[in-house]
Amino acid sequence: MEFEGKKIVIGITGSIAAYKIPLLVRLLKKEGADVQVIMTPTARDFVTPLTLSTLSERPVISEPFDSLTGEWNSHVDLGRWADLMLFAPVSASTMGKMVNAIADNFLVTTYIAAKCPVYFAPAMDLDMFKHPANQANIKKLQSYGNILIDPQEGELASRLKGAGRMEEPEVIFEILKEGLKKKQTLTNKKVLVTAGPTYERIDPVRYIGNFSSGKMGFALAEAFASRGADVTLITGPSNLKVSNPNIKRIDIESSAEMLSEVKQAFSKADILMMSAAVADFKPSTAQEQKIKKNTQHWSLELEKTPDILSELAKQKSPRQLMIGFALETENEQYNASQKLENKKLDMIVLNSLRDEGAGFATDTNKVTLITKQEQLPLDIKHKSEVAQDIVSYIVDNLSQTKIKDK
Ligand code: C5P
Repeated sequence: MEFEGKKIVIGITGSIAAYKIPLLVRLLKKEGADVQVIMTPTARDFVTPLTLSTLSERPVISEPFDSLTGEWNSHVDLGRWADLMLFAPVSASTMGKMVNAIADNFLVTTYIAAKCPVYFAPAMDLDMFKHPANQANIKKLQSYGNILIDPQEGELASRLKGAGRMEEPEVIFEILKEGLKKKQTLTNKKVLVTAGPTYERIDPVRYIGNFSSGKMGFALAEAFASRGADVTLITGPSNLKVSNPNIKRIDIESSAEMLSEVKQAFSKADILMMSAAVADFKPSTAQEQKIKKNTQHWSLELEKTPDILSELAKQKSPRQLMIGFALETENEQYNASQKLENKKLDMIVLNSLRDEGAGFATDTNKVTLITKQEQLPLDIKHKSEVAQDIVSYIVDNLSQTKIKDK
């Protein structure tokens, strides 16, 4: 049984597609899942709690305090109990609450307390779905690491045709099954991820940096952690936050600090994912006092920084995987393939600044995965989805002899 022993919380909100959820509960129960249904007050107008309690074999929860039984339902206990949480159907209003942590009902309160992967399957009329507020909320929810189950095109309850129809219960069931399988694939594996820019000091107030935001590296750290890996994230200056408790964050400023931290952690790592935009050059000397602007011209002497990947290639053992990034503006495939070889990498992830929606500060990215055997272009997607795809590729294609059989 595919879901044996798995604990799943299903949150149902006020949308007509709620009538399809009893079928999903039935499918999950048949495969051995332990299902707890939470309904928002409006969801109860669309499908009866009695139907869902009967199928899930657990009383449906809507309020923290159950006036009938006199029992107190703890959102924290439930949030920590779940192996997976699904919002289906999720309404515009609940998505807005999830984005802003407006925990004024038991469902959103449990979501805020949950530590497991969260899936959300929106369902609403086509114009509502297209509204910029909804589209922005979906993007934000994805950026928090939640997994979108895209609504489908088709006839809607309003008789209009378009996108907004909740994915069918049978498909949601398959998506959850895949998700749970993936979740555990890297348990006990140690993954070292670097992210962000480095700052190379010129004097106490100035530095040489770059436009890297750290978004791709942080998304990769979250993606590895969501599969059960023990992640160390070494990051240059970035305002981003990590959310998975399995990520240990180390903040650094310069390429020299990054090299020292990566060197220390590398011997224990199974995978090194070098997604940081490390400076290639740094000032030969950093001035101790602020440099004065009393000349018309001024030149700064720069020297090359050590290449961290090349340094580590010398101490890499055959059981370790080393993956680099290449950000190119011309001759992309050729340059990236050269780097794969020169830095002795198992894979390189190529970004081209010429691709729209790819690169530094954007929320989306378009990458090509390059190994000795193949070049695989991925579609343009949200960085959290690109990160999941990269991790899936590593697990399915690169780790056969290294990570899995260890
Ligand atoms: O050679 P280039 O800087 O284009 O290669 C990019 C890859 O090398 C990235 O994975 C980056 O993190 C890594 N890198 C490094 N040490 C440096 C510069 C870049 O490991 N000093």
